[in-house]
Amino acid sequence: MPYELKPLSCNPGAIAGMSEKIIVSHYENNYGGAVKRLNAIEAQLAELDWSNAPVFAINGLKREQMVAMNSMLLHEVFFDSLGVSQASAGLTAQIDADFGGFDQWAVQFAAMGKALGGGSGWVLLTWSPRDGKLINTWAADHTGNLSGATPLLALDMYEHSYHMDFGAKAGVYVDAFMNNLNLEVVSALLLTAKGA
Ligand SMILES: [Fe+2]
Repeated sequence: MPYELKPLSCNPGAIAGMSEKIIVSHYENNYGGAVKRLNAIEAQLAELDWSNAPVFAINGLKREQMVAMNSMLLHEVFFDSLGVSQASAGLTAQIDADFGGFDQWAVQFAAMGKALGGGSGWVLLTWSPRDGKLINTWAADHTGNLSGATPLLALDMYEHSYHMDFGAKAGVYVDAFMNNLNLEVVSALLLTAKGA
């Protein structure tokens, strides 16, 4: 079965500071493009002669599969992240324990996003079950997620996510994102990740 687009979970016309045009374009062209690319890669993998294929073909397809699959998954977390809602008591307590407070977490997360301005990559709030804590992580090329960790919140720092609205002002985009956090979704993902 080919991968299908997850319906856009946020209301693209109601994200303060971001245009409906950029969110819809991002969803259709970049997220949609990743899903389309993943299906094309999967089709080639299904027909690969694994015993005789050259190593560069195996390496290339498996690397591109990872990039496209993670791009799909992280974009889904990104769009789910947009909106405005309150954190649960559980999420608030976990952020307090791991960052010393919500504001301290937000300053660190936003700084990581702004540090990627002019470059590319993702900033993720992840739950690491190994140590039972939240960690802000960096993910380049749609890959590099912390092993075993679950991304709960995703900030896309590829230029396609902000250039249409903000030009090169990546920091203004990061501030707009931080004003549109769907913390109910993050709270629910944390509960699931903890196996509660
Ligand atoms: Fe993106």
